[in-house]
Amino acid sequence: MELSIEAEKDSFPRYAELTPSTVLDALDLVDDVPDVVCLSGWVKGFHSMERPLGAGYFGWDGQRTQVGERRVFGRQVRTFSSTHERSHLMSAYGMSPFPQGEPCYALVWEGNIGSFYEITPDVTVIRVAEVMEDPGNKYQYIFALADPTAEAAHGGFRFSNAGKLMALAGYADGSPVTTAGRNVIDWVLSRRSILLTSPKSELAASPFHNAGVTSQAFANLAAHHSARIFDFFYKVAHARLTKGYPLLIAGGCGLNCGWNSRWRDCGLFADVFVPPCPNDTGSAIGTAIDAQWYFEGNAKVSWSVYSGADFVEDVPVPDVFTRHPLDLTLVAELLAQRMVIAWARGRAEIGPRALGNRSLLAAPFDPSARDRLNVIKRREPYRPIAPVCREEEVATYFEWTGPSPHMLFFQRVRDGRLGAVTHVDGTARVQTVAAYENPVLHDLLGAFASRTGVGVLCNTSLNFPGRGSINRTSDVVEYVSERGIDGFVIGDHLYVRPGSGPT
Ligand SMILES: [Fe+2]
Repeated sequence: MELSIEAEKDSFPRYAELTPSTVLDALDLVDDVPDVVCLSGWVKGFHSMERPLGAGYFGWDGQRTQVGERRVFGRQVRTFSSTHERSHLMSAYGMSPFPQGEPCYALVWEGNIGSFYEITPDVTVIRVAEVMEDPGNKYQYIFALADPTAEAAHGGFRFSNAGKLMALAGYADGSPVTTAGRNVIDWVLSRRSILLTSPKSELAASPFHNAGVTSQAFANLAAHHSARIFDFFYKVAHARLTKGYPLLIAGGCGLNCGWNSRWRDCGLFADVFVPPCPNDTGSAIGTAIDAQWYFEGNAKVSWSVYSGADFVEDVPVPDVFTRHPLDLTLVAELLAQRMVIAWARGRAEIGPRALGNRSLLAAPFDPSARDRLNVIKRREPYRPIAPVCREEEVATYFEWTGPSPHMLFFQRVRDGRLGAVTHVDGTARVQTVAAYENPVLHDLLGAFASRTGVGVLCNTSLNFPGRGSINRTSDVVEYVSERGIDGFVIGDHLYVRPGSGPT
C-alpha cells in the first residue's frame, strides 16, 4: 500500500466526508490515470438504512460487488465497488500478518453491524452469526443518555461519545450492577435501529437520564454496559468459533482497547489482529484490497502505519521561536524539564491514533502532565494519556512483552513512576516502537531514558479539538502559540518558544 489520504486529516472535522481539497491532494500524489478506480459502498445520508451509494452498506459475500468501466481524464478505466461491510472485512484481512490461505475468523462491530464471519483458504467470506444490531450505537447511547448536553434526537449520537465512555469505565469500583442500571442496559440492548427509533426522552424516568457522566454511579454503569456487550458477543464466539483460527477485528468498536484486550486474552483464538484503522478510516483501504483480490487474486498488502500525507511546510516559522537542528539529547532535556513538545515528522499515521509522527510529547511522571495535556487539548480531565516506549523494553514498564504498535490494547502498568500515563484502573494503552518502524522516535526514547532512567513518554495526538491531526506548519505555529506549548519539532529542526529554552 502506497498511501492513504483521509478526509479528516490536515485539521478537517473528525469523521469528515470527502472534500474537494482531499480529492485534489490525492490526485497530486498519483502519477498517471489509475487502472482501477474504487468506490467504497456507502449510503446517501445519515443512517445505514438510507439509499445505497455504490455497492451500499450491507453485504459480506461479494454478491453486491459492482464492476464496470468509466472515463477518467479521457481514458477508459475499470471501476469497482463493494459494500461497506466488506470494506471492514477486507481491510482487516488484507492488512493482517496471516498469509493468504490461512483461514481466519472475523468480527465486524461498528455503529450498525455486529457479526462474526469465517474467511476460508480461498478467501470466501461466510457469515457465521449476526450477533447484535447497532453495537457501536448502543454502546455510545449510554453516554448520551447521561450527558445533559446530548440531544434527544438520533440517540444523542456523537462519534466522540464512545471514547469518553471507554475512559469513564476505568473509574468503576467493581460493585454489582444496580436494578436501575440493568433496566437501562436491557432497554438499550433490546432496541432496533436505536438512533432512529429511540430518543433518550423515553428514558426520562431513569436516574441516569441527563444526570451527568462523572459520578461513580455512571462509571459503574459504563463498565457494566461495556461488559454486557462484550459478553453478548463472547457467548456466540464461544459456541460458534470453535476451530481456534486467528480473529480479525474491524469496525469502530475495534478502537476499544478494553474489548480488544479481552478478545486477545479469552483463549478462543490462535491470535488476534486489529488494524490501526479499524473504523471507517480503513474503508478505502479495504475496498482497494477487495479490488486487488477481485482483479488479481491477491488479497494481501504490505503497509506502513505512516502511509498518510507528507507534512506541508506552508509558511516559514516566525523568528520568535529559537531554531535548533534536531538534537534528540536536547529534546530529551526539554521533556525532562517538564516541557511539552509538539512533534511532526514524516508522513501522517493512517487511522485515528497519533503514533509518533503527529504527536504531543511530554514526560510521563507527574499526573499534572496529563492534566496539562488535557487542558491543551481541551478535553475532559478524566481522559487518560497514552504512553509510548521502545518495544524491546516494554516489559520493564508494563505487563506485556512484544509489539503493540498501534495503541489498541490495554496493559497493566508495572512502574509506579508513570503517574501521567497510568489510568485510574492501573492500565495504559501503550504504543511500542521498534527501531525499524520509527527510528527517530525510538532514538528519542533512548535519549530520554539516558537522561531520566525511564524510556517512556506521554504521546497524544497533535490536533485541534474535534479535528483530524495537524499537517502543516501554519497550524502547528497557531496551535503552539495559542496553547503555550514549549516547543515543536518539524522535520529536522527543533523550535523553542521564548522563555522555554533549556536551563
Ligand atoms: Fe463502518
